[in-house]
Amino acid sequence: MKRRNFIEFLGKSTIVGVSISSLPLINACTNSQEIYKANVLFKSLTPTEKIDDIVLVDGLEYKLIVAAGQTISDKDTFGEHADYIVCFPSKENKNEAILWVNNEYYNPLFLGTKQENRTKEMIDIERYAVGGSIVKIQKDDFGDWHLVKDNSSNKRITGATKIPFLWDEKIAGSNVAEGTLQNCAGGFTSWATVLTCEENYDYQYGEIYYDENNERQFTKSWAGWENFYNNPPEHYGWVVEVNIQTGEAQKLVALGRFKHESATVHELEDGRVVIYSGDDEADQHIYKYVSKNPRDLKEGTLYVADIDNGKWLSLDYNSNELLQKRFKNQTDILIRTREAAKMLGATPMNRPEDIDIDPITGDVYISLTNNTAKGDFHGSIIKIMEDSKDKTGLTFKSEVFLTGGEENMFSSPDNLAFDKRGNFWFCTDVSDSKLGKNEYEKFVSNGLFLVPRSGDRAGEIIQVASAPNDAELTGICFHPEENTLFLSVQHPGDASEDLLNLTSHWPLGRNSIPKSSVIAIRGKALDKLLK
Ligand code: FEO
Ligand code: CA
Ligand code: CA
Repeated sequence: MKRRNFIEFLGKSTIVGVSISSLPLINACTNSQEIYKANVLFKSLTPTEKIDDIVLVDGLEYKLIVAAGQTISDKDTFGEHADYIVCFPSKENKNEAILWVNNEYYNPLFLGTKQENRTKEMIDIERYAVGGSIVKIQKDDFGDWHLVKDNSSNKRITGATKIPFLWDEKIAGSNVAEGTLQNCAGGFTSWATVLTCEENYDYQYGEIYYDENNERQFTKSWAGWENFYNNPPEHYGWVVEVNIQTGEAQKLVALGRFKHESATVHELEDGRVVIYSGDDEADQHIYKYVSKNPRDLKEGTLYVADIDNGKWLSLDYNSNELLQKRFKNQTDILIRTREAAKMLGATPMNRPEDIDIDPITGDVYISLTNNTAKGDFHGSIIKIMEDSKDKTGLTFKSEVFLTGGEENMFSSPDNLAFDKRGNFWFCTDVSDSKLGKNEYEKFVSNGLFLVPRSGDRAGEIIQVASAPNDAELTGICFHPEENTLFLSVQHPGDASEDLLNLTSHWPLGRNSIPKSSVIAIRGKALDKLLK
């Protein structure tokens, strides 16, 4: 958002607990006889309590499904730092489902890889920790979901898995990349594939930039994987499509290369898809991809958002003389997407995180988590309203939906979701080094929040869950048919300086090392809300 707009909406946000532009109160029910009214039975939590557990409102309980490092098959263990989740219910058995879970990154302290002069063996441990996990789950007679160990469905994609590029030209000299990493949020398709997004890839393999002479330069990574594996940064920063049955993966070059946070899919009646994606770094951009062919993500047009003027700007090489002066061809543009976007005048945003589409109105919701350098400490959630019905058009309107801050008692929105009734859910992610300090004094823990669409409490911002010490809640995923909410609990205890001074012992308690995990939340409160 422009600074001027930001000040304007700060002014409006003084009405405590009320959203700035409300969710349109349209009947979300499929049965036209019944008018759905969100029935919220519980009192909101506050983000001011620091408890090393998942705290839930009355009427909800959680169960642990799977934790980092847990054995899932005779070959594999569950990855670290769980994030985006997709639930694929079994067509044959309603008591079974497959979960895809992103494994974004890891804490070297907990992997035993935190030291100077790191060895190749240590890097290999880290490479195995990231990517994604596919696990089968099963429901018991009480309605609780459990991991099914040693099931043939259980698989890992890691930082070492060979993954081809879905593109005719080579990318930095190769048709195949080694591994996927920093898999943050994502999307899924109607043909049972997951789109997992590579976010902060520069931590592992560094980054490239092009200098004033248009010459490629390299900056080293923080984790130093390039010291043992000579993989170019150009092989990371993509959206990766994974077949949930086979585990086969491909990197989708046509969607561009940047710190992809999410890849939210809207499928058209003719099978073509529109995919929205944000680049999570301060002053980066929001993108839209429109596929050329039905259910095929190889070709298409990538656009970047000019929010100020409500325009999608095409990043197509052939139709843009300005881009032709700087870039060799379309491949070059897609590898250096940010640079091309800035040349076209894309609007710098306050760290675009997750994106979700309102199932009732089709509006596109985007969280802008914060931008401290610009004085935006608590972020906001905006929405884009496309002028075109099918979302392929080049113009749109946008407005602010919610702003973070003490008035609304949330800070730094990250993951978003709509439930089957069209209620809006979001999680927050104040980083563990900032929780409870300075501007974030009132925010000692991250949380899960609900904005009911209808009923007496429509538009209220209600905190439903709070996270264990240092953690964020993420990957909000409702079972498509049941009143179960799967959630990732990421980076508990990540502020620990050493193993003798752990700041969290969640989920196992006592003196245990904290573990990022997936939980399932159920209970009467959710049954009443979604009935
Ligand atoms: Fe991985 Fe931008 O959160
Ligand atoms: Ca995120
Ligand atoms: Ca995050």
